[in-house]
Amino acid sequence: MKIKNVVSEREGFSTKVASYFSSLSSAVGLGNIWMFPVLTGLFGGASFIFCYIFFALLTGIPVMVSEYVIGRRTRTNAIDAFGVLGKPYMKITGVLGLMGCLFILFFYSSVAGWVYSYIGKAITGEFKGISNMPLDQANTVSQEIFNNVINGLMGPFLLQLLVITVVAIVLILGVKRGIERLSKTLMPVLFLLLLICAIKGLTQPGAAEALKFLFVPDISKLNSTTILTAMGLAFFKLSAGSGTQTTYGSYFTGSTNLVSNAIQVCISDIVVSILAGIAIFPVVFTFHLNPESGPGLLFNTIPLLFSKIPMGGLFMTLFFVLTGIAATMAMLSLVEPVVAFLSSKKLLSRNTAILITSSLIAVVGFLTMHQGSYVNTIQLFGLNMSFFDFFNNGSSNYLLPIAGILFSVTTGWMMDSTIFHDEITNNGTTNKKVYPILRIVIRYLTPILILVVFLNAIGILK
Ligand code: PFF
Repeated sequence: MKIKNVVSEREGFSTKVASYFSSLSSAVGLGNIWMFPVLTGLFGGASFIFCYIFFALLTGIPVMVSEYVIGRRTRTNAIDAFGVLGKPYMKITGVLGLMGCLFILFFYSSVAGWVYSYIGKAITGEFKGISNMPLDQANTVSQEIFNNVINGLMGPFLLQLLVITVVAIVLILGVKRGIERLSKTLMPVLFLLLLICAIKGLTQPGAAEALKFLFVPDISKLNSTTILTAMGLAFFKLSAGSGTQTTYGSYFTGSTNLVSNAIQVCISDIVVSILAGIAIFPVVFTFHLNPESGPGLLFNTIPLLFSKIPMGGLFMTLFFVLTGIAATMAMLSLVEPVVAFLSSKKLLSRNTAILITSSLIAVVGFLTMHQGSYVNTIQLFGLNMSFFDFFNNGSSNYLLPIAGILFSVTTGWMMDSTIFHDEITNNGTTNKKVYPILRIVIRYLTPILILVVFLNAIGILK
């Protein structure tokens, strides 16, 4: 198969470090700080975490590398890339990925709205009283505050709109580069702050129980749903299967080592998630909260944790500001592939594409937002799920992994092996030993593993 000669007019990242940080800024977000602890709590702790790490290594990294290869080789958007590769019928891969991005944006913007609201609350000192309260009362107050945030009629709508507007403005002003530069500084600060929170977490009375919950696996807790969810989290976390890494890969320098970039992003991302877990779960066990309490877990525990730290109000503000920035950066990476595709046809200007995408997110996202309202009680297509859960499960557990299979089939089976070899080894200069192993993994192990998990989850394979 011949690759058409692609002359790129697009700008790219200037250094390898920029490639690492851009990819990482897509990976790190609400997935680490909000979703990872929520799912770990719901699905039984350590066994879920080990399962997630297993899938991050054996399905997340290979799909990410496949996306990088396709993006860097074709230097175009995640759908047209397949045309450039001479496999136009595989464009469905990019379509599924972009659908995944939109599904994620519909509910992610809602949760990002909660974070924005907590920035305001931390600044205005709404949690000040908590530090002097007995445990039970502090816990009740913190839960009430969260319920007020998600159950209001106009509040959540306006917050979600605010988030979407911020993302649209950043994209329209083209200050993404500025934000990327900012994130290079802020990511380490977020990391440091999580480290402080984790250390503080370890001094809580519930720390021993939390560590047992997080690191001592109980195999009996594993079932097909847990395994599917762990795999979904691995895709969601690494932004794999969504076309995002293809789009970012298309900006990488020729000298970027695609394999080590993917491994470094994956490991950094896992460390951030584990730190969030070590910060949150000791509070859960100290305050006798229910680990299975779902989406409110982060919002109920973090104010309690900071109420025990000197200058907690200041640190809490910083924590939510940084989480808000991480969520915004991840959203930029989710909107970018859609906008890049819509504006590539020259029918729409980039700004019109941004406005259309943002409006779509606001309209459909509205359905995910009213947690305590009528919309949230609608059970979709008899699936026994709210819109929020439908978009959440549909993207992580289905769209991204299915696109993941297709991405790895494209690089493993359809792409000329010399092209794949050249991209992985940077024209024979690196990764010579890794190449044969990676090729086997991408051709066989990754797609088969994803398929087996699916067939198992839908009951075909028991
Ligand atoms: N990885 C991001 C997070 O963990 O918050 C979410 C995300 C971003 C998923 C981009 C998918 C994606 F394409």
